[in-house]
Amino acid sequence: MEIKKVGVVGCGLMGAGITKVCAQSGYQTVVSEINQQLLDKGLGVVKSSLAKGVEKGKLTETDMQATLDRLKGTLSVDDFKDCDFIIEAVIENMELKKKVFADLDRVCPKHTILSTNTSCLSIIDIAMATKRPDKVLGMHFFNPVPIMRLLEIVKTVVTSEETLNSAKAFGQTLGKTIVIAQDAPGFIVSRLLIPYMLDSIRMLETGYATKEDIDQAVKLGLNFPMGPFELGDLVGLDTTYFIACAMYDELKDPRFAPPILLKKMVTAGYLGRKTGKGFYDYK
Ligand code: CAA
Repeated sequence: MEIKKVGVVGCGLMGAGITKVCAQSGYQTVVSEINQQLLDKGLGVVKSSLAKGVEKGKLTETDMQATLDRLKGTLSVDDFKDCDFIIEAVIENMELKKKVFADLDRVCPKHTILSTNTSCLSIIDIAMATKRPDKVLGMHFFNPVPIMRLLEIVKTVVTSEETLNSAKAFGQTLGKTIVIAQDAPGFIVSRLLIPYMLDSIRMLETGYATKEDIDQAVKLGLNFPMGPFELGDLVGLDTTYFIACAMYDELKDPRFAPPILLKKMVTAGYLGRKTGKGFYDYK
């Protein structure tokens, strides 16, 4: 199937990155938000990231302008009516995702593939909110989307081979390396990442080591680019908490139970870089 126009639902941390990558890869891209303020903020992130690219000589002014010309922001689901491929990147809330997919199913043409960037929620549950579950799958990107090379494609028991093949071909045109995961909690990466991040918080909680020493140990001892606390602040502690709760709900495995410290930080609004404070201070 030829993909010309892409829709991205949600222009937050992940949605803005996905939008930038799609528009820069040559696709007409329409991105939606729930209000003008959030839309302006998300599009502002895309524009400043492109402008930084120009400053660093990674792309020309002409390329930047051509990318911006392919980009359109909207507040209306009706603007997805001529999209060939949709990537939903709203918050990790099953009821909200089901509503978004039911709306997309109503508006989009029959051939349109509907995908979700969820890190942890059951994709078959989301797919069954539509009348085209064979055309629904997971497209799980990693933060920061323009830099991270991996794309996890997640198929359900109903996803058709044709849908899977179109998604793989599309993902490759975005410059991503693809792995295929089953529709099981956390897919591949979060299944490994979440217990590691939660164990790090438990080490801090029990006074086993400081967050600075844990981060340093992981960076210098394992050669990870970031320690678990730096990474939590980048991904968002609310997102980390939601993923842990969703995975614990499904798996009932104590390794996925969120530590009390994480819950308290989320309650206090210490969500990481996006709020200026998480495990570290960014003000
Ligand atoms: N958008 C675009 N480019 C970005 C960027 C962003 N948000 N953040 C960093 N970059 C670019 C920088 O411009 C820089 O480019 P140049 O080399 O061309 O100058 C390059 O990335 C390196 O950035 P920095 O020099 O500022 O910093 P760094 O070398 O420490 O790299 C990092 C930053 C890429 C974030 C690196 O620390 C890293 O890879 N961290 C780990 C990230 C990770 O593990 N992500 C997965 C999270 S899990 C997830 O996302 C799944 C989920 O569902 C929870």
